[in-house]
Amino acid sequence: MPNILSHICERTESYLASLPKKARKSIGQFFTSRETAAFMASLFRMPADLSQAMLLDAGAGTGILSAALVERLQEYQATLNNIHLVCYENDAQIVGLLRDNLELLAKQSAVPLTYELREQNYIVSQRADYEKTLFSRAKHEKFDFVIGNPPYLKIGKDAPEALSMPDLCYGAPNLYFLFAGMGLFNLKDDAEMVYIMPRSWTSGAYFTKFRKKFLSDGKLTHIHIFDSRNDVFDHEDVLQETMIVRVKKTSTEPESVTITSTHGNHDFHDIHCYQAPYHAVVTGKDNYVFILSNDTDKETVSQISHFNHTLPDIGLKMRTGLTVDFRYRELLSDIKTDDTVPLFYSQHIKNGKVVFPVSKQGEYIKTTQSSLLQMNTNLLFVKRFTSKEEHRRLQPAVYLSSEYKEYSKISTQNKINFICGEKELSTEQVFGLYVLFNSTLYDNYYRILNGSTQVNSTEINTLPIPDLSTIEQMGKELLAMHNMTEMACNHVMEKYL
Ligand SMILES: C[S@@+](CC[C@H](N)C(=O)[O-])C[C@H]1O[C@@H](n2cnc3c(N)ncnc32)[C@H](O)[C@@H]1O
Repeated sequence: MPNILSHICERTESYLASLPKKARKSIGQFFTSRETAAFMASLFRMPADLSQAMLLDAGAGTGILSAALVERLQEYQATLNNIHLVCYENDAQIVGLLRDNLELLAKQSAVPLTYELREQNYIVSQRADYEKTLFSRAKHEKFDFVIGNPPYLKIGKDAPEALSMPDLCYGAPNLYFLFAGMGLFNLKDDAEMVYIMPRSWTSGAYFTKFRKKFLSDGKLTHIHIFDSRNDVFDHEDVLQETMIVRVKKTSTEPESVTITSTHGNHDFHDIHCYQAPYHAVVTGKDNYVFILSNDTDKETVSQISHFNHTLPDIGLKMRTGLTVDFRYRELLSDIKTDDTVPLFYSQHIKNGKVVFPVSKQGEYIKTTQSSLLQMNTNLLFVKRFTSKEEHRRLQPAVYLSSEYKEYSKISTQNKINFICGEKELSTEQVFGLYVLFNSTLYDNYYRILNGSTQVNSTEINTLPIPDLSTIEQMGKELLAMHNMTEMACNHVMEKYL
């Protein structure tokens, strides 16, 4: 078979040039690069005696992934008698090109290939089959190989797709995980799917229902992460952190998961590979997925999982700052007056301390609106956003109310998070929390848990932490050291691991 994948990629580029990106973005359309498609196809482990292969590519676009998989299957000409490929694509603009590409694929495949192009909504068109199985096991066409790069699109909680798969949804879902869930549903037992997904589903409460079902009906056997987001989609500027997963439809846990990563190269030459124990990757009652790249990561997760409390367990909570500053411009002031209170921004977080004022615009707020104000109590501030280039994801600072005695209330901008207590935290307790959040261990842990640069308070509230008296003790030790550095925090932490 001549290099048909490259040919289809060239045709895709011409198509791309003819359409504004905005139009494709509104339907979640991004195309996989040739290298990524070939890599994805290479991940499938082939059954020994495969004679017939049923392939599924949902949201097929121009058919890049189908072509990559068919190309891979050419290696099995000796045993393979027939390939049947099913593509779903509901964008009327692209189906013409997809049909041409599938026709070409059928012509050039050395293994006899038949195909069906279903111009239907992949999710909604299967609603009846999917729902029926919740009650009785209806007979339904199943596939040997499922490959996909699903649309990335948030939809309403009452959208027809969301209503078709209610068992996966919690609030407004994203089409990508409905596609992944349906892909697994469409797979034969013990067969594998290879899917591109953003990394967001691996943690957080929002995806819990999906994670539980997906990882109960299937098991992760390979995870590939990209260091650079643009490696996956040529020319596309996709801002999501992306991963490729290979999932086997089985209830049996494998011993390990292969975790690979590439660093800024487009051709998958320089692949870093780590074999991680399955139970260390998929853990906890919420099935969080930890992307471990080496033994240090494995050790980090194991050390932290020995702590058996969470912030809410010990009467504390991380919350997101209260004030969306640009919505309340008229309340902001650059200078202090009798009726203003400090509004803390991430710019006030400096090397573990809160420095205020810093002559920043709008660093005071004048309001009586209770939703924008909080009691002036001891807090641990943690920046909500950091950049990828910064050394740390977790950047905390100790806030002591005694340093701002004249105020009974203060406010916080929504780009910082803060940890507060049901009862006011003592100075030692805030310093103890600082030890945790400024340690290398917790920073690594958060990085493994959540690939994004955003610190999400819901997630922090589920992190394992020690009990309050241990935290207090840690704070005392740090205070005695008169040193707020990461090294000092690591030194204090060491004893408690
Ligand atoms: C992210 S693109 C991927 C295209 C192609 N698989 C690739 O990897 O290059 C997702 C595709 O799914 C299609 N799509 C979106 N929603 C769909 C739905 N409900 N049913 C079928 N296709 C859909 C879009 O039109 C788009 O072509």
